[in-house]
Amino acid sequence: MIYDNVSRRYHRVRSFARTALPLGLAAAVTAAGLVALSGTASAASTLGASAAERGRYFGAAVAANHLGEADYANALHTEFNMATPENEMKWDATEPSQGSFNFGNADRIVSDARGRGNRVRGHTLVWHSQLPGWVSGLSASALSSAMNNHITQLMTHYRGQIYAWDVVNEAFQDGGSGARRSSPFQDRLGNGFIEQAFRTARSVDPNAKLCYNDYNTDGQNAKSNAVFAMVQDFKNRGVPIDCVGFQSHFNSASPVPSDYQQNLQRFANLGVDVQITELDIEGSGTAQANSYTRVVNACLAVSRCAGITVWGVTDKYSWRASGTPLVLDGNYNKKPAYTAVLTALNNGTTPPPSSTTPPPPPPPGGCTVSYQETQRWPDRYNGQVTVRAGSTAITGWTTTVTITRPQQISATWNGNPTWDSSGNVMTMRNNSSNGNLAAGASTSFGFTVMMNGNSTAVPRLGSCSAS
Ligand code: XIL
Repeated sequence: MIYDNVSRRYHRVRSFARTALPLGLAAAVTAAGLVALSGTASAASTLGASAAERGRYFGAAVAANHLGEADYANALHTEFNMATPENEMKWDATEPSQGSFNFGNADRIVSDARGRGNRVRGHTLVWHSQLPGWVSGLSASALSSAMNNHITQLMTHYRGQIYAWDVVNEAFQDGGSGARRSSPFQDRLGNGFIEQAFRTARSVDPNAKLCYNDYNTDGQNAKSNAVFAMVQDFKNRGVPIDCVGFQSHFNSASPVPSDYQQNLQRFANLGVDVQITELDIEGSGTAQANSYTRVVNACLAVSRCAGITVWGVTDKYSWRASGTPLVLDGNYNKKPAYTAVLTALNNGTTPPPSSTTPPPPPPPGGCTVSYQETQRWPDRYNGQVTVRAGSTAITGWTTTVTITRPQQISATWNGNPTWDSSGNVMTMRNNSSNGNLAAGASTSFGFTVMMNGNSTAVPRLGSCSAS
């Protein structure tokens, strides 16, 4: 019943998507170089578009004061499809004196990104650094209220606009102790402040992913073990946490750990997304490029690695500019590191498998199906299934597409859909014009999926049967 009149709705949605997109969104679709619905698959030419083909995002830290620079804005808008305000959402920027909130610069970044259909990571709600002096002067009960209020005000202001929040940043000490870092929050409120922050955050914006974010946790060590134990405890006790951010600031003294992928995987196995949140790698040339490749391949190999954010658009404005740690140089030229990242993304043969694993050769008289995501917006994405005939001609085909709730198919095209009683499994049959396929020939059908808060699930295809 939900799906009756699918084809009529398809025409509505599709004509919206094709002709009535808001200007900014249409521009983003073009800028991101996304594959056209009916086009054949080709290697994407931007980081964001290539990551999207792997079901990931590729973002950058953004500074509001550079948005007016044409080259900066152009590089940002061309290459990246996720934005993290570099400093503009931090406590000293948003609540410099108690109860007086300032969102101007953060708003500029959020509207710049969302106006192009890109997503935003919120950074950060509770952190010992860039914390205005008034916070450390508060008593325990006043600090507890101030922390809840700060979280509530920020998350209310941006409710529905933030993909993931770094709820708590850098709460653990470096070194072998695995202890919590001293901070006004830790010192006055004790270990419970982290749980309190996450519970408050969930109550304010239940649709934002809630992350714990830290550095020097990129490989397995005493600090990451301590974070791991905390996340495990949160999951066991039902404390809301959805993701763990790995900052991934690397240099020669702190290179990409050899167990980087395994470490991401062990966190993912706890039932959280993992995100690479502040990637930069000091160096140059091939050595730097190779390190970037390792990071990208690690993320692609972990199905719950949602995406990668580099900590800046250009070396020129990097917080570690002298280490030239980013993928675009100071003149916005693409470095070997850029090519390495794009190549790794385009070569990715890892999850989601349905979009990247080449289909086995079709049996004689049979058909095969393969899936590709073609476009993504904040609330929905388009998927395309290519149906290919085997070594003899066919006159009709059928396959299934299974969606993970709460995702929902809202429109389809170039096929005749029917639905199982759960509404999760769509059986797609050829329409009157695309059932006849010569040996080896292909056709495709498409659909729009509303994500309804789940941006990571990928449609699963059944086998193809031919007549
Ligand atoms: C850095 C910014 O890049 C600088 O501009 C600022 O002066 C200091 O903070 N970990 C984090 C980020 O979580 O917020 C930090 O960003 C880098 C380390």
